[in-house]
Amino acid sequence: MIPKVLEFKARGDARGSLVALEGASIVPFGIKRVYYIYGTKPGVERGFHAHKNLQQMAVAVTGSCEMVFDDGRDQASVYLDRPTLGVLIEPGVWHFIRNFSEDCVLMVLANEIYDESDYIRVYKDFIRWKYY
Ligand code: TYD
Repeated sequence: MIPKVLEFKARGDARGSLVALEGASIVPFGIKRVYYIYGTKPGVERGFHAHKNLQQMAVAVTGSCEMVFDDGRDQASVYLDRPTLGVLIEPGVWHFIRNFSEDCVLMVLANEIYDESDYIRVYKDFIRWKYY
């Protein structure tokens, strides 16, 4: 599997840089929710779930982390290491995040509000849901 990555245009000038993300054009869905993960303790890995329908895009706005994807057949990972790089977290893909730098702020844009019933949190259930 090949995760879909997006490179954003940074509007830089003598003052510094600015990235603007707009729903439906740069981000390939309408944005209904934004959340961010920060202050992650050393060695922590988190995520370990798949979504049935939710579309998301993750950006490490500060620091870096590794996003690992697993479609039940193979795994692929993407290092998010700059604020101009986004990766899509597609529905039906198991994913987890590791190797957080201490300063990492991982921002996630989502097309729906939080809904626990959209989560599959047990890997065996994910395989069953996806393939059987
Ligand atoms: P959790 O699903 O454990 O995060 P991760 O996927 O990184 O392991 O989420 C932590 C808590 O935050 C959990 O109680 C659910 C809650 N939460 C919300 O209330 N809204 C949200 O948008 C998200 C992503 C999580």
